[in-house]
Amino acid sequence: MRILYLLLLTVFVQLSFAQSIYKDKKAPVENRIKDLVSKMTLEEKILQLNQYNAGRNTNVNNIGAEIKEIPSGIGSLIFFSADPELRNQIQKKAVEESRLGIPILFGFDVIHGFRTVYPISLAQACSWNTDLVTQASSIAAKEACLSGIDWTFSPMIDVARDPRWGRVSEGYGEDPYTNALFGVATVKGYQGKDLSDPYSIAACLKHYVGYGMSEGGRDYHYSDVSPQSLWETYLVPYQACVKAGAATLMSAFNDISGVPASANHYTLTEILKNRWGHDGFVVSDWNSVEQLIAQGVAKDRKEAGLKAFMAGVEMDMMDKVYLENLQQLIAEKKIPMSRIDDAVARILRVKFRLGLFDQPYTTVVAEKDRYLQPESRAVASKLAEESMVLLKNKEGVLPLSSDVKKLAVIGPMAKDKSNLLGSWSYNGRENEVESIYEGLEKEFTNKVQLNYAKGCTFDGSDESGFDEAVSVASQSDVILVCLGEEKKWSGENASRSTIALPSIQEKLVASLRKTGKPIVLVLSNGRPLELVRLEPMSNAILEIWQPGVAGGSPMAGILSGRVNPSGKLSITFPLTTGQIPTYYDMRQSSRPTSGRYQDIPTEPLYWFGHGLSYTTFAYDAAKLSATKISKTQKLTVEVTVTNTGNVKGKETVLWYVSDPACSISRPMKELKFFEKKEINAGEKTVFKFEVDPMRDLSFTDSDGKRILEEGDYYIHVNNQKLKVELVK
Ligand code: GLC
Repeated sequence: MRILYLLLLTVFVQLSFAQSIYKDKKAPVENRIKDLVSKMTLEEKILQLNQYNAGRNTNVNNIGAEIKEIPSGIGSLIFFSADPELRNQIQKKAVEESRLGIPILFGFDVIHGFRTVYPISLAQACSWNTDLVTQASSIAAKEACLSGIDWTFSPMIDVARDPRWGRVSEGYGEDPYTNALFGVATVKGYQGKDLSDPYSIAACLKHYVGYGMSEGGRDYHYSDVSPQSLWETYLVPYQACVKAGAATLMSAFNDISGVPASANHYTLTEILKNRWGHDGFVVSDWNSVEQLIAQGVAKDRKEAGLKAFMAGVEMDMMDKVYLENLQQLIAEKKIPMSRIDDAVARILRVKFRLGLFDQPYTTVVAEKDRYLQPESRAVASKLAEESMVLLKNKEGVLPLSSDVKKLAVIGPMAKDKSNLLGSWSYNGRENEVESIYEGLEKEFTNKVQLNYAKGCTFDGSDESGFDEAVSVASQSDVILVCLGEEKKWSGENASRSTIALPSIQEKLVASLRKTGKPIVLVLSNGRPLELVRLEPMSNAILEIWQPGVAGGSPMAGILSGRVNPSGKLSITFPLTTGQIPTYYDMRQSSRPTSGRYQDIPTEPLYWFGHGLSYTTFAYDAAKLSATKISKTQKLTVEVTVTNTGNVKGKETVLWYVSDPACSISRPMKELKFFEKKEINAGEKTVFKFEVDPMRDLSFTDSDGKRILEEGDYYIHVNNQKLKVELVK
């Protein structure tokens, strides 16, 4: 009897202990995952592999109805609301009503800020200030957390070289290294030191991989990504961000030379999981599993589900293909249960690491304490300021001289607010945006009279506003023309056949030109623009991109000289659309001095890295620590830069390498390091690049192997080119 009693007691203790492992905060995450997966039914496992959306609930009476439709065991929701109490109500259903109480992962597109909208990512890269981007992303994460979001579908790190593609606005430009560094900076901002920190959110690298190669800049179209360019260009930012600890990735809509990204075992499993050791999960892009049918690799939803899942997509966004087909595929032994368990474990791992099992609910604070705090706006303003690029400044028309007493402020962007937010600014509010005109008022009140006329709309053919604009301009000393793109002209599914602005905007400038007054062109846009006709008509051109909520004052500060512009382009501005693709790290032509366009110049208008300052910087001769090194030796290159002007300024030094005689043809030059520093007038600073040959001089072959060959290399800085010989 005694033995029986002891036996029962042991079983009971074991059982109760077994009950608690996955709920035990102190237990190692891997033990908690293993315990929980062992308890889950197949149906519960499959639910975890799905993501629905919870719409924006404007009517609190519908909360019950809407939430009823959401299965309590669903793995994740795209949370379009920003109401933490709604999130908590939905979460309560999952945690308290479902059998195992697995919390839901609430995701959303927090792309360049949440309610405090920052400049678009393409602009952020022009700041060359990764620390500031980390700060901005950290604030975005906090605002998102306080709104019930645990996971953002960001950063987008798709290298893009065709500005007809609307999504060029969402990434960090044409260069792999720039996308890598800013992607890492953003991941750090979102995820903080630990995913379980109260204001950390999980990052999601997208769109994995090669999406920027969409043929002809047409979104969702076929993309021919060679194995060489896959490794040399498109995977570079992903490898860096996975190494930095990014929790998740999103599989892309595009093809990778015939094998869609959302069904590509090589990229999703061989590279991402087996070689890089990523232990988080991959979510498909919206319906990209079902879209495998359209891409011609699946005859029906079931086959699409099989291909995506077996390739390595763990979570299915929105199309319910997994929900409706995985059970059958397992029954037919086409999907082994071990793969289901691994996929579930990956999703649970992110949830455990986020702390969702231990703290599933959002702390609800008053809305006024959630958003747009003074320090958030200050970061937004700083990032906008450092992202703006002075493209042209003929005869120093900027900063405006103290003789300027009347400034004409003309154009459809002058008082516009909404379009300054840019694409993917879902929670941004027009009335919280500082317009260009408002920034000018703050900067120039009691100093310069502002004379405003809209002149025209962004598009169309109505020139009826021209006369008033010309009249206002005629009575002013300088004409500020504020033009650009509507925010819906870039972003997803926003490809354009030309990157020129609508002709009505160019005609307005041509009319203003007749006044003979100096023209300062201010541009707010989400892509490089064709400026071949506008550039000659403008004395100065200031690219402010889509600066978010706080662009007005920084722009005005640059006009007044209070701010010395320091942005440099993260993407080349072709002279015309016909020059696309033109980017700095192209290969050398086999006939470098011919093969030019017959009808237009072949040089772009502004190269990657272009950006003017109000001061001047003189570069001394750069110095090498050695001119001959072995493959394992480090090399230091230094250059002293002097601010030879009258005002302090920030200078970004871009360091490139080139390998003109290699076993494969390599780009004419490749960015490998950059540094931005402020230098006072008359002072000098040393910039240093520590070259690691394997990291900085090697190239990758078409299967990702890094190869470092002996031979001559060049380090490029400013207009200097220094030769280094690499020996055994
Ligand atoms: C969209 C976009 C992706 C976004 C997702 C969720 O189709 O391609 O960037 O994160 O759906 O909104």
